[in-house]
Amino acid sequence: MSLTSVEVETIPFEGQKPGTSGLRKKVKVFMEKHYTENFIQCIFNTLDDKVKGSTLVVGGDGRYFSKQAINTIIRIAAANGVSKLIIGQLGLLSTPAVSSLIRNHKVLGGIVLTASHNPGGIRHDFGIKYNIENGGPAPTHFTDDIYEHSKKIKSYKFTPKLETDRLIDVLGTTSFKVDGNDFVVEVIDSTADYVRLMKEIFDFKKLRTLIRGTEQRPPFNVLIDSMNGVTGVYVRRIFVEELGASPDNNVFRIVPLDNFGEVHPDPNLVYAKDLVDKVKGNSYDMGVAFDGDGDRNMIIGKKAFFVTPSDSLAVIANNLECIPYFQKHGVRGFARSMPTAAAVDRVAEKLNKEMFEVPTGWKFFGNLMDAGRLSLCGEESFGTGSDHIREKDGIWAVLAWLSIIEHKNMSIEEILKEHWSIYGRNYFTRYDYEEVDSDAADKMMQHLEKLLETKGLIGKSFYSGGKTYKVTKADNFSYVDPIDKSVTDNQGIRVLFDDGSRLVYRLSGTGSSGATIRIYIDSYEKKDVLSDAQEMLKPLVTIGLEISKLKQFTGCDEPTVIT
Ligand code: G6P
Ligand code: ZN
Repeated sequence: MSLTSVEVETIPFEGQKPGTSGLRKKVKVFMEKHYTENFIQCIFNTLDDKVKGSTLVVGGDGRYFSKQAINTIIRIAAANGVSKLIIGQLGLLSTPAVSSLIRNHKVLGGIVLTASHNPGGIRHDFGIKYNIENGGPAPTHFTDDIYEHSKKIKSYKFTPKLETDRLIDVLGTTSFKVDGNDFVVEVIDSTADYVRLMKEIFDFKKLRTLIRGTEQRPPFNVLIDSMNGVTGVYVRRIFVEELGASPDNNVFRIVPLDNFGEVHPDPNLVYAKDLVDKVKGNSYDMGVAFDGDGDRNMIIGKKAFFVTPSDSLAVIANNLECIPYFQKHGVRGFARSMPTAAAVDRVAEKLNKEMFEVPTGWKFFGNLMDAGRLSLCGEESFGTGSDHIREKDGIWAVLAWLSIIEHKNMSIEEILKEHWSIYGRNYFTRYDYEEVDSDAADKMMQHLEKLLETKGLIGKSFYSGGKTYKVTKADNFSYVDPIDKSVTDNQGIRVLFDDGSRLVYRLSGTGSSGATIRIYIDSYEKKDVLSDAQEMLKPLVTIGLEISKLKQFTGCDEPTVIT
């Protein structure tokens, strides 16, 4: 049947400004008449003449409103002259899988339907993110353009008669004629392409031996928690079917639910407490959790021995040679986001690799990877990944850890302790104050800015817990991209002390209501590497609260999350 598109009149909505990682709002906001349609049309308006005849990948973590959003995307894409949409079955694709599909099929880009680690369900968050042709999140100039279009949009294109009912439930290709052009929807297996990629990167045979055990070595007992997010389908395929993990004992919460079973799908010690408790109380060798869309990961060892993401990155960097992908392609530079502790920097120095420090947000790694200067990177926000795609990748990180464990035949705790004995240890913690009044949070940041302007902090000494810390430098982090020379300012306030310790303050860019203040605290010790991180960092935390006057500004006594 030949279909015709129409132009639907609309008016702009305020606040369609993508944050660190796409546009995130409450579901009810996306449900407002024309709201989702406007934003999708603005993506196409930004892509402009690249849209006609293009192919895009579409999918997400399956959270509430995903299916409605996909139906809308199909109808708007067809009306804008897109030739083909590649969609994960039931709309499910992890963020790393989208990245991999974009690269593999060499298409224009992808639309990812997720609010990542934010809660899902009718009362919670939805999100839309655009990824560009390298498979990575759209850079700031692109998302700024989307925002500009959103302020002046007058109409969107739509194909009202295009039948989308159950279209994404079954595998296969459906063809339409829209305004005389061919338009194809191809519904694909959400896992096939991604599993193939993981098999190219890792030695699945060795990993299976690790998981199943041998005569010499007992099975390596993992517990993987998908927190009812999209990784469930990948975990079943990879860990259960390929690597022989037990569906009853080694994995849980692996059925994706549109409200994540009311779990907050953020893999940290607070929100993944169920996993932590299970690992603590049983004989598991390793515990793993992922976020809703599968790009974040948390790794814990026996008895819930916590691996900070900054250390996880450093350990992987130090052991890349046991992963076939790096044997084949070699290892280029390493990178981390500014608030991430500098453990990996020490590995880079020893291995003589280039090291980059970028602002928070995975999009900042893309240019470096495309230029062939970056192999491995990570962030304190539970993100780890490599240049195999342009997103962080939770499952990849776990397979990397398993490869290292298999290779070294050591426990996670032993690996960390060995690492610290060689490199020293960057003690790290992050304090989050969630859903703080936005005005109060802004005022606190302005107060810090003022301290920078007056240079009042430099040279000042602070005393806490029997130690004195002297400020040597304080600034607001600014980044010049070494490849395209673009400048990104105001990326977090840093206070650096004479012993190398550091306090960083920034506001989260991924929330959907109120503000979240993050304070990152880190301190390097060469010899005393086995102490408790919270104990070690207590004096600096006290100083951090004193400098920022956080309590006075926000009224918060305690953080909501400590990682
Ligand atoms: C997303 C991005 C990460 C980034 C994180 C920061 O997960 O993909 O690259 O580190 O957001 O979140 P925040 O809430 O601190 O802005
Ligand atoms: Zn995520």
